Amino acid sequence: MEIARGHDLTGRRAVVTGAASGMGAAAATRLMAEGVAVLGVDRVSEGIVGTHTLVADLGDGDSIAVIVGAAESLLGGCDILINNAGVCPAGPFAEMTEEQWHSALGINVTAVMKLTRALLPLLAASGRGRVVNVGSIMSRYGDAGLVAYTTSKHAVLGLTRALAMELGPHGITVNCVQPGAIATGMTRGLFEDTTGAKDYYASRSALGRVGQPEDVADVMVFLATDDARFITGQGIMVDGGVMVHS
Ligand SMILES: NC(=O)c1ccc[n+]([C@@H]2O[C@H](COP(=O)([O-])OP(=O)(O)OC[C@H]3O[C@@H](n4cnc5c(N)ncnc54)[C@H](O)[C@@H]3O)[C@@H](O)[C@H]2O)c1
Repeated sequence: MEIARGHDLTGRRAVVTGAASGMGAAAATRLMAEGVAVLGVDRVSEGIVGTHTLVADLGDGDSIAVIVGAAESLLGGCDILINNAGVCPAGPFAEMTEEQWHSALGINVTAVMKLTRALLPLLAASGRGRVVNVGSIMSRYGDAGLVAYTTSKHAVLGLTRALAMELGPHGITVNCVQPGAIATGMTRGLFEDTTGAKDYYASRSALGRVGQPEDVADVMVFLATDDARFITGQGIMVDGGVMVHS
């Protein structure tokens, strides 16, 4: 077996969702630095990172076909799919609206399924397709106030495992990073409030700090390289050891 090694991803093509902020922007930046042509997708137009950028809301019916069309016409295919876009409705279960529930499941799970399925022909044609989903420590644990989010991120892990089995014969690996508390747009409000949430999460980490987007983006990129060719169906905690606590 001839084995390609290393992080040289020159010539590969990636779709990164949620590329205007946080971990998606960091992943797009890192991939471009490795020579990847990136289609950055986000529902907000400002600050999308990518060789090509596309404004699309994954909750809209037409968006999936538009993204696939852009991958074909702008990239000429797709070797790497980073399903990163996500939302995190929070609050007491008793007050949770159906809209919040459907938003968490719709963006964090259903859109991931739809985009992966729609890009399947391109990923299979690649011969070394890579799908990297973004779960959470909430893919394995639960927390009050995060019922819809926790449910959605558990589903991301299940989707990852099942798709790994289904897509393996097409030469496609499917994995999921599971970030802990990372300083991004999603956590900005929480980390900037006066309750000491950032210090709390930092104190729970074995490394004494919260994560930065690049801490996770580098693992996403690794999973896209040939070095990660025999890893599939995995949920990889990238949490600074937060969940190692007894
Ligand atoms: N920040 C954390 O502590 C943390 C922890 C675990 C998992 N995550 C997950 O990491 C992923 C990235 O989040 P982040 O922390 O970088 O947050 P972020 O808010 O900084 O970035 C998320 C991006 O996704 C985009 N997005 C959201 N809904 C979209 C939609 N319907 N269509 C297109 N784009 C959409 C947003 O506009 C935003 O640019 C999410 O899946 C999130 O659940 C975050």
